[in-house]
Amino acid sequence: MGQNGFLRFALAGLAVLSVCVELTHSVNILCIMTVPSPSHHIWNRVIMEELVSRGHNVTVVSQDGDKSRTNLTYIMLEKVYSTLYEEDGMDLIEISKETPLQALFTFKDFFLGMCRGALKSDGLNVILNYPDSFQFDLVLYDFGCGPCLLPLLHKFRYPPLVSLTAFGNPPYSIDVAGGHKQYAYAPHYALPFGVQMTFIERVDNTILHLLDAGFRKLYTMPQLDRMVRDHFGYADMPSLAEIEQRTVVMLLNTHPTIDSPEPLPPNVIPIGGSHIKEPAPLPSDLEEFMVSGKKGAVLFSLGSNVRSDMIGEERQRMFIEAFRQMPEYNFLWKFESDLKIPLPPNVIIRPWLPQNSILNHPNIKGFITHSGGLSTQEASWFGVPLIGMPFFVDQHRNMKRSLIAGVAEKLDFSSLSTRKIKETVLKVLETPSYRENMLLRSMYFRDQPDKPLDRAIWWIEFVARHPAPEHLRSPTLALGTTLSATRVSFVQNSLLKNR
Ligand SMILES: *[C@@H]1O[C@H](CO)[C@@H](O)[C@H](O)[C@H]1NC(C)=O
Ligand SMILES: *[C@@H]1O[C@H](CO)[C@@H](O)[C@H](O)[C@H]1NC(C)=O
Repeated sequence: MGQNGFLRFALAGLAVLSVCVELTHSVNILCIMTVPSPSHHIWNRVIMEELVSRGHNVTVVSQDGDKSRTNLTYIMLEKVYSTLYEEDGMDLIEISKETPLQALFTFKDFFLGMCRGALKSDGLNVILNYPDSFQFDLVLYDFGCGPCLLPLLHKFRYPPLVSLTAFGNPPYSIDVAGGHKQYAYAPHYALPFGVQMTFIERVDNTILHLLDAGFRKLYTMPQLDRMVRDHFGYADMPSLAEIEQRTVVMLLNTHPTIDSPEPLPPNVIPIGGSHIKEPAPLPSDLEEFMVSGKKGAVLFSLGSNVRSDMIGEERQRMFIEAFRQMPEYNFLWKFESDLKIPLPPNVIIRPWLPQNSILNHPNIKGFITHSGGLSTQEASWFGVPLIGMPFFVDQHRNMKRSLIAGVAEKLDFSSLSTRKIKETVLKVLETPSYRENMLLRSMYFRDQPDKPLDRAIWWIEFVARHPAPEHLRSPTLALGTTLSATRVSFVQNSLLKNR
């Protein structure tokens, strides 16, 4: 190596070294996690804990929380859930009967109710009492339920913003980070459509997207803006929509094995599966129960929003009776309270079950699920076929995609019977194609160049190193937002493009 070559080599080494040094540099991160749904917290928490384990200091403002620990401090918004479920009287079982159009209004109520609860929580004063000069190097913001607390960005003099959501790639992600929504093949979360839509479905999808976008721009956002402006009283604060668009990088919980194959701007990074960790072995009693099922074991969980004790005693009896009639399988049911009905020996109930460890078990044969996004991802990761009983929001759409992929059968909540439960469950457990298709999905989901969680952390640290990478920003943000001329061309695209 000549002198020149050596010099270049040494310089390159130095550059690599300085990047490494910067990488390990610890930063102060404020997390604004205001989506009132425990499963969204589970998803966000994996990222926050990983940031802490890499030496960063994380402060979380949220209605969900665990015990604070070293460098992971929770500030609780204690009035959010009570505002939504007690004052506003939201009833998840009622919501499950809504049409897609009604779902838009409910979603708006969720945005506004959450915000009202957040603004009257004492926890908000805790973060407001931090001095304005407190140094947050980065803000991590779950944009799934609106920008109610983004005025905190204004308070802390605009640290760089990373927006993220567990909620797939929702229609409003383009209002935040730019880019395009293709109504021709990206179904709205409230519509139970697959990627290949008929012409009528595409019309339906386009209309719902436009109504949603218009409603958000003309009603929900201005309403939120008024609420927070009155509360925070920052005279020179830009609109919430503008603050939201300061997003430097966006992290989305999507993967093409499950979600529409949509083009994304360069700063919008899919990290689907980031919350799935190497599962711990099962506790010995559950292990024993799983292996003692003659033909295998089945998990039954409705997630964290709809509790199994909310489905009513009549339906609980149907499930237990159906399980009794399938004695060669053992059933593990996540049931949150006491069940009055006597259980057959092949059923156990627990208020909490280690879902991933069960799905990873060699004796698991199927998963009776509400078809929530995270549960669908976990079953797909571990290759377990589904019996889906969707309730609301994106669950019908997830179910539809699983049906099309041949990895699931559907149970209709409103017309359940013992016979239907038994037939549907047995069909999935005893027809090999469901499992085979799921194993294919699993293979594609897992075979990635890097781990989704590592990718998420890399991009967050990237923003800590480079707070303003203008070149990554989608130019559509400068063209005006919702209902702009660009949108019109997509509408035409969606409607006119005939196969
Ligand atoms: C906690 O964060 C601070 C600064 O952000 C850092 O200096 C310290 O090493 C961290 N502590 C642990 C135990 O990670
Ligand atoms: C870490 O975060 C906590 C909670 O917000 C804060 O009190 C503390 O000052 C932070 N540590 C550093 C080194 O900034």
